Order: sequence, then structure tokens, then C-alpha cells
Amino acid sequence: MPLAAAGTGMAPLWYTTRATGEVALALLTATVALGVAGVARFTTPRWPRLVTSGLHRNLSLMAVAFLAGHILTALLDTYAPVGWSAAVLPFSSAYRPFWLGLGTLAFDLLLAVVATSLLRARLRYRSWRAVHWTAYAAWPLALWHGLGTGTDGRLPWLLAIDAVCVLCVLAAVIWRLSVAVPASRRQAVAAASAVFVLATVVFVAVGPLQPGWARRAGTPVALLGHGSVQQTGTAAGTRTAAGGTSAASLTSATFAGGIAQSGSTQNTTVTVTADTQGSPHQHIVITLHGASGQGGGIALSSGRVSVSVAGGGGAADIYQGPVTSLSGDQVGAVLTGPSGQRVPVRVRLAISGGHVTGRLELTPGGDG
Ligand code: HEM
Repeated sequence: MPLAAAGTGMAPLWYTTRATGEVALALLTATVALGVAGVARFTTPRWPRLVTSGLHRNLSLMAVAFLAGHILTALLDTYAPVGWSAAVLPFSSAYRPFWLGLGTLAFDLLLAVVATSLLRARLRYRSWRAVHWTAYAAWPLALWHGLGTGTDGRLPWLLAIDAVCVLCVLAAVIWRLSVAVPASRRQAVAAASAVFVLATVVFVAVGPLQPGWARRAGTPVALLGHGSVQQTGTAAGTRTAAGGTSAASLTSATFAGGIAQSGSTQNTTVTVTADTQGSPHQHIVITLHGASGQGGGIALSSGRVSVSVAGGGGAADIYQGPVTSLSGDQVGAVLTGPSGQRVPVRVRLAISGGHVTGRLELTPGGDG
């Protein structure tokens, strides 16, 4: 049974979640950068205070509007079990609870700012200002949320957007330090900023950029399985829990083909070449090296499995990796897909003369 295609009908919601999340982060960055730089100080005859503070306020309201869309689509999308409470209760989601929780905390802080700003006339200035400054913490929380939760956190252009956001806020902090922070606090703020940037770079390097992040981030095991096997859903690509899109994904399928042996007894190579039935078309090549055993088998020294999956427009995606086990007529391998996702597979072979039939199966636990 092909384990494919679940959830692909909801792809538009997923795209909207990602797009609105990125736009909200960009708007939040602009709001925070303006705020940190000091809206009141950033005035020239051509940019009176009214304009800069109005810009700050409008950007923040736009960020909240995009966030509403981001959160709503994330909740409506049935792919990830986010749960309605996760919109306001941090760390209550079943899907990547910690990283999603950072986003919820950021959203709660923004709600507090909006509420206190609406009630500003009734609040003491110091209370309003305290809440307002706390809300700046929403930005690093949102940044780390996006990096930790986002499906495509490792795509270069998304990392570039995040890097630009960090540089904008950093530039604002440096400008503020140069004009308005007392010397006694300057070093502490500069050190804290440097630690944050370094921690973010290290986090991305050891977290989202590494294989297995989907599992470590807290993606439910059932989705990890899906991630390895979802089938083409739209022309633009298919969502995977592994952290990427692919034009065509591997599916479990039966196949038929041929088997050939070459080399000497001590150094023999067995090659299985087969094609799957049904759609998508998958071409499988299994190569096993080793010494031939007395009963006609092979004492494996190394092996490789490669599957090319036909996508749209004649393109093919290649999944390949080393053989990890050979037992009887069963070959185990861990393949790496086009977006770097790891897909463990099991291949059962039935050999008769030079012919081979069998079944390619995706085994649970692909980690992306
Ligand atoms: C200030 C608050 C927030 C900001 C700025 C923000 C921004 C982002 C960004 C930039 C991404 C990465 C998108 C990608 O590249 O794939 C993301 C992912 C995500 N966010 Fe948020 N977010 C916030 C709050 C929330 C909240 C409260 C929820 C809870 C419902 C949420 C749910 C999600 C989900 C489910 C994803 C993963 C989408 C995917 O599969 O790629 N976010 N968010």
C-alpha cells in the first residue's frame, strides 16, 4: 500500500502559513529596528517624529495582521497537530512544542503591547513603557521560533532573510549604542548582542542545518514517517516533515527487473536493476560488493541503493545511500533525498535465474 499523498490537499494553507510567517517576521524586524534605534531620536526635517512614530505603529499593526493569518492558517492546516490552545498557551502544542512555544510567547508579548497601547491613556507611562520594552523580546523569540519550527529552515534564501533581519536589528542596536546609551551600559548591551548573534549562528549550525532536526525538534513520529513518503501534491512541490520540498517523493512499491553478477569469487559485484509498477515511476539500482559465498550468496563488504523517482516534466529526484544490512533476500539501506532528508528503506527480493521481483518499502523513522 503506498503511504503517500496524505495532507497534500492542504498545501495552500501550508504555503500561506510559511509566507505570512516570513512577512510577519520581516515587519516585526522593521518595527523593532525602528523602536530600538529610537523612534523619537530618528527625526530630521524631512522625517518628522510624527512620520517615524506613525511608521513604527503601522508596521507593528501590519505585523499583527499577518500574524493573525499565520496563526489561523497554521491551526486550520490539518497536517501538523498544532492545537488551538497553542495560539496563546506556550509549549502546549504536540508539534515541535518548544519551538512553536517560542512563537506563542512572542505572540503573547505582542498582544500585551497592543492591549497596553490601546489603554495607554489610562496607564502610567512607566507601566506602559515597561510592557513595551519587554515586548522587544518578541523579536528574538520569533526569530528562533521560525528557525526551529519552519519546514524550510535550511533553505539558503530563507536563511538569507533571517540573516538580513538579524543585521537590521544589529545595525539599529549599534546606532542606538553610538548615540544614546550611557557608557556604563554600552559594553553590556554590546556583549549581549554579540552573544545572541553567536548563539543564533551556532543554533542554526547544530540544529536546523543538521539531518534529523525534524525529529529532534519534536515532530510527532507519525509525521516523520509521512515526511519520507509523501507524494507529489502540486507542481511547486510537496511538503515533507524532513524540512524541504521535493518534486517527487519516494513511495513503497513492487518492482520487477534483472540481476547480474560480475568479478571474481573474492571480489564479486551483484547488481539488481528494476523498475516499479504504477505511479510515480521509480528506477531502482542495488549494487552489492563482497566475496561470493558457497551457497551462491554474497558476504557483503559494501553496497549501495539508488532510486530515481520520475517527477513532472521529465525531471527525476534521486534518493541514494549505503546498504546498512543484508539478511536473506532482504536489503536495508538509508537513502538521502534531494532536500537532504534521510529515508530508511527495506528492499525484499525474490530472485529466479536472472530475473528479480520484489518490493521497496519505506520503513518508519526517516528523520529529515
Ligand atoms: C511573533 C510571532 C510569530 C512570528 C513572527 C512567526 C513567524 C514564523 C516564521 C518566520 C516561520 C517559518 C516559516 C517557514 O520558513 O517555513 C514560522 C513557522 C511556523 N509558525 Fe510561526 N510565528 C509566530 C507565532 C506563531 C504562533 C503563535 C503559532 C501557533 C499557532 C505559529 C505557528 C507556526 C507553525 C505551525 C510554523 C511551521 C510552518 C511550516 O510548516 O513551515 N507561529 N513562524
